[in-house]
Amino acid sequence: MKLMMAQSTIDSKNKKLINNGKAPAKETILSPRFYTTDFEAMENMDLSINEDELEAICEEFRKDYNRHHFVRNSEFEGAAEKLDPDTREIFVDFLEGSCTSEFSGFLLYKELSKRIKAKNPLLAECFAHMARDEARHAGFLNKSMSDFGLQLDLGFLTANKDYTYFPPRSIFYATYLSEKIGYWRYIAIYRHLEKNPDSKIFPLFNYFKNWCQDENRHGDFFDALMKAQPRTVKSLSQKITIGGSTFTHPLFDYFHRFRYFLNNLPLTSKLWSRFFLLAVFATMYARDLGVKKDFYNSLGLDARDYDQYVINKTNETSARVFPVVLNVHNKSFYGRLDKIVENNEILSNIAKSSENKVYKTFKKLPKYLSNGYQLLRLYLLKPLDSKDFQPAIR
Ligand SMILES: [Fe+2]
Ligand SMILES: [Fe+2]
Repeated sequence: MKLMMAQSTIDSKNKKLINNGKAPAKETILSPRFYTTDFEAMENMDLSINEDELEAICEEFRKDYNRHHFVRNSEFEGAAEKLDPDTREIFVDFLEGSCTSEFSGFLLYKELSKRIKAKNPLLAECFAHMARDEARHAGFLNKSMSDFGLQLDLGFLTANKDYTYFPPRSIFYATYLSEKIGYWRYIAIYRHLEKNPDSKIFPLFNYFKNWCQDENRHGDFFDALMKAQPRTVKSLSQKITIGGSTFTHPLFDYFHRFRYFLNNLPLTSKLWSRFFLLAVFATMYARDLGVKKDFYNSLGLDARDYDQYVINKTNETSARVFPVVLNVHNKSFYGRLDKIVENNEILSNIAKSSENKVYKTFKKLPKYLSNGYQLLRLYLLKPLDSKDFQPAIR
């Protein structure tokens, strides 16, 4: 799973570098945050209206199609040494980011399966299978990192990384999108490299075809979960947590009922769909065309074309489950995203310059305002009704 909602920079103290006399990795990486949620609400979800589909998906998970897929072959021997220093640095960054993303998915799914096991065994089993897949993905990436004399200390990461709280509904939106975007990202790279074998800088990419099917199945699980409309909960909580302290009173039951009612208004779903689609797409676009641009170049891909393809496809796929999707075909859509990329480049140049701090902030402000304005206009751009969009796939 690749949660791309918010990026944060973690510093080198959060990872263990095993340096076998080789160049150490860069000190910082862009990595996804780790997430946590309301486990009580999760275990109380009534999914009965879509239980058959969830059971079918769980059966697919049980088959464990990729059980024997992630086995390293002889192609890995000496592959790391073939990379030139620049490509090597870019590629190690990619490995670190991907490994952390996969691992963040593992942690969330594992914790969920553990916490809801008693009351919601079917859901817990699905999460356990997904955790298995993500652990495998993270482990496989970490093995590639050791080819470069590096290793992410996942235990340390687990204990020391900040966890961001998301309510269950937001977790569904965000993880659904990150799984589907992960599927399209992996398959697009795989197909490109299939046509351009000379750009295959590392044997890892040979595994992407089956790998992305895992992500696709994970996405389908969240699709089914959202279709189950978990608006009805078996029992409402009389508890409420404010700033870390928990209060109990029967009245809070009504508060939760009201909250669920608001959350399930069709308008609310539409506004959240637009929010999550935009947040995920804009973050990915800004990052891939910014700091990650060289990585795509090293694979012979144009970051802009690649991202637009992935966004268009993910948007199209999302129409199966979200009531509305973004109008990515409107000329202003990528125009505004490009403006953000341009602003970010100016911002990073200002940050690098040796001028005094106050002056720098003063220079940065209009660019921040411009980014905010572009995002607002993107959010307000009339969405496409999923019913009218891609009728063939619905
Ligand atoms: Fe996944
Ligand atoms: Fe994964």
